[in-house]
Amino acid sequence: MKTIIEPFRIKSVEPIRMTTQPEREQRLRDAAYNVFLLRSEDVLIDLLTDSGTSAMSSEQWAAAMRGDESYAGSPSFYRFERAVRDIFGFEHVFPTHQGRAAERILFTISCKPGDVVPSNTHFDTTRANLEVTGARALDLLIPEGRQPALEHPFKGNMDVAALERLIASVGAEKLPLCMLTITNNSGGGQPVSMANVRAVSAVCRRHGIPLYIDACRFAENVYFIKLREPGYADKTPLEIARELFAHADGCTMSAKKDGLANIGGFLATNHARVAEQQRNLLILTEGFPTYGGLAGRDLEAIAVGLYESLAEDYLLYRITSTTYLGRHISERGVPIVQPPGGHAVYIDAAAFLPHVPPAQLPGQALVVELYREAGVRAVEIGTVMFGTRDAATGAETTAPMELVRLAIPRRVYTQSHIDYVVEAVLNVFARRQQVRGYRFVEQAPVLRHFTARFAPL
Ligand SMILES: Cc1ncc(COP(=O)(O)O)c(C=O)c1O
Repeated sequence: MKTIIEPFRIKSVEPIRMTTQPEREQRLRDAAYNVFLLRSEDVLIDLLTDSGTSAMSSEQWAAAMRGDESYAGSPSFYRFERAVRDIFGFEHVFPTHQGRAAERILFTISCKPGDVVPSNTHFDTTRANLEVTGARALDLLIPEGRQPALEHPFKGNMDVAALERLIASVGAEKLPLCMLTITNNSGGGQPVSMANVRAVSAVCRRHGIPLYIDACRFAENVYFIKLREPGYADKTPLEIARELFAHADGCTMSAKKDGLANIGGFLATNHARVAEQQRNLLILTEGFPTYGGLAGRDLEAIAVGLYESLAEDYLLYRITSTTYLGRHISERGVPIVQPPGGHAVYIDAAAFLPHVPPAQLPGQALVVELYREAGVRAVEIGTVMFGTRDAATGAETTAPMELVRLAIPRRVYTQSHIDYVVEAVLNVFARRQQVRGYRFVEQAPVLRHFTARFAPL
């Protein structure tokens, strides 16, 4: 059969509410044109994020019922730990309430002012948690990864030569760790090849620098390796995952993505001394090490979800539905990051709205327009998220790319929902000349995109 179907039946449904255009206009004004400030019941198709928005399976719900809520020594923790060790191979495993808690613990223990932490591209929470320690977050993506229209199988790869140059110029002792984000969320959901993981790991090991993987979308990355990298077609996703993590010293994980859970995460490491410090900080801020800020039922859901995310029929459907959306809009001329990523399609807002300069926030303008048009909520990944404003001088910097991400929640929407999104994007594309830019009215000093208020220009 050529038709690729959703590999599940729907057992429980959640109604979504239709809204009229005048209603949406009012909601936009109330939210100061920041879609993070909308109520989700006013959103028809919510592509704000794929994080924590997955539909859990009947097996996960069944496992959740088995959750043991003991403060210490819960069997739910041991099932969770066994799953993480089996897939990721790391010795010490600490549950956290979500990915950023794992990042905060890792960086608080390992980083200090003056340090430099390279990555292919740091995600926004990763960058913010790193910079709060006084360390510098550096993105060393391959040049191909910065050209949205360019086709390349592994646009998430790190520039290994740039990593070597960095070490030569600042000294290995200034790098407390190196990171690789798989897939590269901020750079278009693009995967990292096994060859690149191997090469980065070799450089790190030669210089005694621990390599940590930001593993949020590890299953999607692994599937891209299977599809695109010579030598992996006959391996299972689980085998590829084990090989990949064997090149690293630890990982941070948001189980809200490829854990197929609605909340949770973990920090894992092979280093006993670091683990001891991490454990102590975990107790201080997250909870006892056998629950780490999660309920026993969450640990159970994650333990099942991690394996479900590696199932081949699931991964085929997942990657196919993202590609379907990307292909149907790009065929009609909409500029997107090529090829479509694993969890999301990224529209190149700078090319979509060439008459809106980066300082006038083209990504934000497009996000507002998609909601206005059809009640579709997307997210800006450009100057709003990654630009900066100097509090003293008011000087603004813009981001290297102006993207709008359409992130697809896992197992939530069907093909007709995606067809509706295609129509919405194409309608806005047809009237793009009329779309104008936005300006900030209010912004917080860090992670400003969550709470900023805007006004149309
Ligand atoms: C690549 C990446 N790293 C880290 C995080 C942070 O995870 P969390 O939202 O669970 O704190 C995210 C969340 O979107 C992410 O995409």
